[in-house]
Amino acid sequence: MQDTTANGSVPNPGPTSIIIFGASGDLTQRKLIPALYTLAVEGRLPEQYAIIGVARSEFDDKGFREHLKRGVEENARLEKMDAAAWTRFAEHVCYCQGDYDGPETYTTLIGRLMDVDSRHCTESNHLFYLATPPQLYPVIVQQLGAAGLNHMHCEDDPSAEGYTRIIIEKPFGRDLSSARDLNGRVHEVFDETQVYRIDHYLGKETVQNILVFRFANAIFEPVWNRNYVDHVQITVAESVGVGQRVGFYEQAGVLRDVFQNHLLQLLTLTAMEPPAAFNAKFLRDEKVKVLQAMRPLTPEEIGDGSVRGQYRTYRDERGVRQNSQTATFAALRLFVENWRWQGVPFYLRSGKLLMDKITEITVQFKDVPHRLFPPAGKDGPHANFLSLCIQPDEGMHLRFETKTPGAGMRTRSVEMDFNFGEEFGERALPEAYERLLLDAMAGDASLFARADEIELSWQIIDPIISTWRSRAAPPLEFYEKGTWGPPEAGHLLARDGRHWRMSCRTGRRSGLEQEQQEQAE
Ligand code: BG6
Repeated sequence: MQDTTANGSVPNPGPTSIIIFGASGDLTQRKLIPALYTLAVEGRLPEQYAIIGVARSEFDDKGFREHLKRGVEENARLEKMDAAAWTRFAEHVCYCQGDYDGPETYTTLIGRLMDVDSRHCTESNHLFYLATPPQLYPVIVQQLGAAGLNHMHCEDDPSAEGYTRIIIEKPFGRDLSSARDLNGRVHEVFDETQVYRIDHYLGKETVQNILVFRFANAIFEPVWNRNYVDHVQITVAESVGVGQRVGFYEQAGVLRDVFQNHLLQLLTLTAMEPPAAFNAKFLRDEKVKVLQAMRPLTPEEIGDGSVRGQYRTYRDERGVRQNSQTATFAALRLFVENWRWQGVPFYLRSGKLLMDKITEITVQFKDVPHRLFPPAGKDGPHANFLSLCIQPDEGMHLRFETKTPGAGMRTRSVEMDFNFGEEFGERALPEAYERLLLDAMAGDASLFARADEIELSWQIIDPIISTWRSRAAPPLEFYEKGTWGPPEAGHLLARDGRHWRMSCRTGRRSGLEQEQQEQAE
């Protein structure tokens, strides 16, 4: 299957050297190199490409390639590793060891770049990737500027002088002021058109499909508003704990880790107006307007409309403080205050060590204005809802009422399903990083966050973090592993007369089966 860029066309990346900072780290080994390898094997990388890893660890080229090979064996999407393909790929990979703050690292890097540019004919097209711990971003950016590595390019005519772009991994800042500061430092060296702030959720096919579903079909958009929608739910549930990332997670917590980025991205795509055209500017303008319409909450609203949780064994993890207040679960009620969404709550929840890994957006429609038919079950009939299943049950479910056969006019809920795997084949969905790396090489920033978008999202999250640190904070609720989080998350919706949906198939069974069983019990 071929990818297309966000503006609809098939990406056409030119010859490129990709320079990865943080090359000995986990992200490079588990995600970036497996994605690049898969692209190479599927013939989707440009013919002329080179990959240079930069990091402090001691490696020679051979040792570095061996280290990467293990990551590809374990993580690449392709069924099994092809030895000849790996050898061909590895010839394009080399390593440059050095300190990130040492100018000599960048002098060495220039030498290596000149070498690979001439050996692999990559024409001075340079794509830098910051995959280091975030505190190193400013120094790397500053050193790239000092070494003149930021402008070996001509954006208007890339084929003549080459381009320079930089991908920056999340987290981009840890609050509004640090994000502004980082944007400022980046802009001292790079123009915004060169900057690609990554959120891998935007690289997921099912996330991009939110836009296609909404704007390539005429039948949903007319009901996609406060007149028909009762509320929207967004769940990003994870079954794993914090694992090896305790140091990062203790500082970040769930709000910084996934709400500021992934959950708000899902919200903006669900709530945005159709852009006038499908390009990076118009698309991101519309997302920004949604964030602008989200008034930051007052401490009282946060106290009443948020839940913070921690899995019960979190404090037993190595490196976690005994009295750690870090939230590993959160549920929030947010509002988008504009004509389309006034008064419609958006409930967001995410947590670690929950019952299953599942990401789902549910648009709950209002009840019929007048009930004519008696339900078959003990309550109902049920209002319709649509679940966009982001993962792992990629697709969607529309729930509606139907007549139960036989005498009378009793109704029951049924589902209409679409599943990507069934329709396009199980292996049809590329990894998010494959898509995003290709887009950055092709110069399409549609699926990357813009400076103002990042700052606005921190503006929404910051007051919640500071209230959670204050006396107005809701209590930290402990929850058991393998549940859906603390019961208070259910109470948050129950107080509004609603309940959480879980309609996409979890590893266990479908939400409908689950609900029918519960009704029967
Ligand atoms: C990352 C977070 O951005 O997203 C992780 O830092 C989280 O904590 C991960 O586990 C979830 O991504 P995915 O693609 O597995 O849903």
